Amino acid sequence: MELGVCYYPEHWDEVTWAPDATRMRASGLSWVRVGEFAWSVLEPRPGHYEWGWLDRAVDTLAEAGLKVVLGTPTATPPKWLVDSMPDMLPVAPDGRRLGFGSRRHYDFAHRGYRDASAKVAADLAERYGRHEAVRAWQVDNEYGCHDSLRQAGRATRDAWPRWLEARYGTIQALNEAWWTTFWSMRYSCFEDVELPLQTVTEAAPGARLDYARFSSELAIAYHRRQVAEIRPRSPGRPVTHNAMLFFGDLDAHALGRELDAITWDNYPLGMLEMAPLPEELKTRFARTGHPDLIAFNHDLYRGALEPAAGEPYRPFWVMEQQPGQVNWAPTNPLPSPGAVRLWTHQALAHGADVVSYFRWRPALGAQEHMHAGLLRHDGTPDQGLAEAERVAAELLAATTDAAPQRRRAPVALLFSYHDLWAGEIQPHAAGWAGWGPWLHPYLALRSLGLDVDVLPPDRDLRAYSLVIAPSLTLADEALEAALERALSAATTLLLGPRSGAYRNDMRVHEQQPGPLGGLSGTRVARVDTLRPGSVGLLTLEPALADAMGSSAASYHTWADLLEPSDSTHVWARYATPAYAGVPALTCREHERGARCLTLGAALDSESWGRLLHLLASQAGLSPVPLPDGVRLSQHAGRPCLQNFRETPAEVDLRPLGGGVVSVPEVGVVWPDLPG
Ligand code: GAL
Repeated sequence: MELGVCYYPEHWDEVTWAPDATRMRASGLSWVRVGEFAWSVLEPRPGHYEWGWLDRAVDTLAEAGLKVVLGTPTATPPKWLVDSMPDMLPVAPDGRRLGFGSRRHYDFAHRGYRDASAKVAADLAERYGRHEAVRAWQVDNEYGCHDSLRQAGRATRDAWPRWLEARYGTIQALNEAWWTTFWSMRYSCFEDVELPLQTVTEAAPGARLDYARFSSELAIAYHRRQVAEIRPRSPGRPVTHNAMLFFGDLDAHALGRELDAITWDNYPLGMLEMAPLPEELKTRFARTGHPDLIAFNHDLYRGALEPAAGEPYRPFWVMEQQPGQVNWAPTNPLPSPGAVRLWTHQALAHGADVVSYFRWRPALGAQEHMHAGLLRHDGTPDQGLAEAERVAAELLAATTDAAPQRRRAPVALLFSYHDLWAGEIQPHAAGWAGWGPWLHPYLALRSLGLDVDVLPPDRDLRAYSLVIAPSLTLADEALEAALERALSAATTLLLGPRSGAYRNDMRVHEQQPGPLGGLSGTRVARVDTLRPGSVGLLTLEPALADAMGSSAASYHTWADLLEPSDSTHVWARYATPAYAGVPALTCREHERGARCLTLGAALDSESWGRLLHLLASQAGLSPVPLPDGVRLSQHAGRPCLQNFRETPAEVDLRPLGGGVVSVPEVGVVWPDLPG
C-alpha cells in the first residue's frame, strides 16, 4: 500500500510548491491528487487556458518523485460558463433553483454542460494524458455531494419521458408497472409523465423507484462522456471517481462498470456524528469513529467493481482520508492520538491500495477553513502528518517481507441499491428505511472477526460458504437464477425479511417471495411491523436452541410470517401473542449440502450474532468473538487487529490457532498466526 495527499497548488504561492513536494516525499507520501476544483484558474476565460501553472505544479511534484492523480474540475463550473447557459444550474426536488457560489451547481442532464465537461476533460487529457507523472485520473468529485444527485431542472425534466420510453416501450406498459388505474393516475403518452415530485401526497412507488434509477443513470451517463475523452488520450492510466460514505443515491455497482478502480472518501468522525445512532454510542466512539461504519464502506466499495478472473478484487483506494478535524458535522471533535494511523492501517487491512489524506495544508479562507490538513494553517506539521509518517515508516519496514496474498472474504453480504431505494420509498415501519437492515447482520459478522465482501446479488457467489442476503426486496427470475447458481455449491444462503416482496417495478408479488419461493421452500403469508423500541420474541426449536445456547431470540421492526412447505424445516417460531407459533425461521435443504434459510424477523444485533456464529461454524469458518470496539480483518493476506477503544484490549485468537494478544488503545497489531 502507498500513501498520498490531496493538494491544491492553486491556493498557494508558487515558491512553496517545491518545498511542499520535497516534504511530502520525505514524509513517505507517493501520490498527490490535484486539480479537481481548479477550473476558474485553469480556464479563466472561455477557451483561454492558463496551462503554465499546472504544468509547473505537475513537474514540481514529478521532480520530487511523486505520482499525480489529476482531477477533472467539473464539480465547480466557473462563473463565465454558468452565465453563458444559466439553465445548466440545478433545481432541487422541492423546486428550489440553486445558484452559483459553492460547488456542484449543474444539472447532470444539461447537454451544453455535458459538452463543456467533456471538452475540459479532453483538453486536460490531451495535455497531461501521457505525462510521465500523471498516473491516474479522477473524474469530477463526489457525485451527489450536498444532496445534489436527485434533481428537477429543465434538462432533467425533459430527459425523464425519454428515459421512461426507453425503459417501457409503450405507455400501457408503464401504466401497468406503476398500477396507475389506482387514484386515476393513468397516462396517455410519455410526454405527460412528470417527475414524481411535489405531489400532494406520495407519488406512485413505481414512479419513485424509477426516478431513483433515472437520477443515478443520468449521473453515470454524464460521467461516461468524460471517461470516453480521457481513455484514448491517456492509455494505461486508471480512471477513478471518489465515492461518498453511506451514499445511497448513486448506484456504485453501475458506476463501477465505467471505472478502472474505485475510491471513496473516509471521514470516520464526521460519519459517526451524522449517523442515526444512540448518543451513548456516538460519545463512546467520538474520537475514533465506529470501526464497523468505516469497514462497511471499505467492503462495499472494494466490491463495487467486478473482479478480474483469479483476483480477489479490483484496485480500491481511499482518496480522501480524514487527517484531523472535519468542518461539516454538527460537532467536530479532534481525533484521539493514533486515530489517523489506526484508520490507515484499517484501510490497508481491508485491501486498500492507496490511502490519500485530505488535505496537505488547511485553507486560509472560504468554506473549509475549519477543516484540518496534515499541516496546520501556518504550514507547520500537525498531528496527522506525524501519524502518516509513522505509517509510511511501518509500510517501508513491512515491504522486506514477501508480499502476502490478498484475500477474498469468506462471507458475502448481498446488497443492491435498488433494494435500498425500495425500502426508502415504502419503509412501512419507522425503523426500516436506510442502511439498517444491512448493517445489523454486518455488525454481527464483524464482531465475530469474520471478513465480509459486500456484493451485488448478480456476482458469482459459488466461492462463498456463507451468503447473507439481509433483504433482497426486489426479486425477478434473473435473481432466482443467480441464487440458484450460488446454491449449486455447498453454500448456506440466508434470505432476510422482505426478500421477494416486490417485482422490479415495485408491484407486489402476488405470492411472496415471488420467484424465490422455489429456493426458500416457504411463502410469506402476512407481515407485521413493530413500533420503534418494541421488541418481539422468537422461540427456537430444541436443536437450534441447543446449538445456539439459548431458547429465544429477539427481533424489532419487521416480521414476515412464514408458511413453509412440508419439506422445509422450521427452526424458530414467533412468540408474539398476535401470531404465536407461526414460523419465523426456516431451512430448505438443497443438493450437495447447500441450504436456503429464510429469516422473517429483523433480529437484533445480539441474536444475529448468535445465529451467525452458528452458521459460520457449520460452514467451516472460524468465528472469533471480539471485544467491543476491537476488530479483525485479513484482506491484506495477514490478520490485523484494530482497537478503536481508548483503553487497551486483550483478544483471544485461539480459534485461529494463536494466543491471547494485547492491542494498545487506539492502536493496531498484526499478529503472526500459523498458516
Ligand atoms: C469531501 C470533498 C472534499 C472536501 C472534504 C471535506 O466531501 O470531496 O472536497 O470538501 O469533503 O471533508
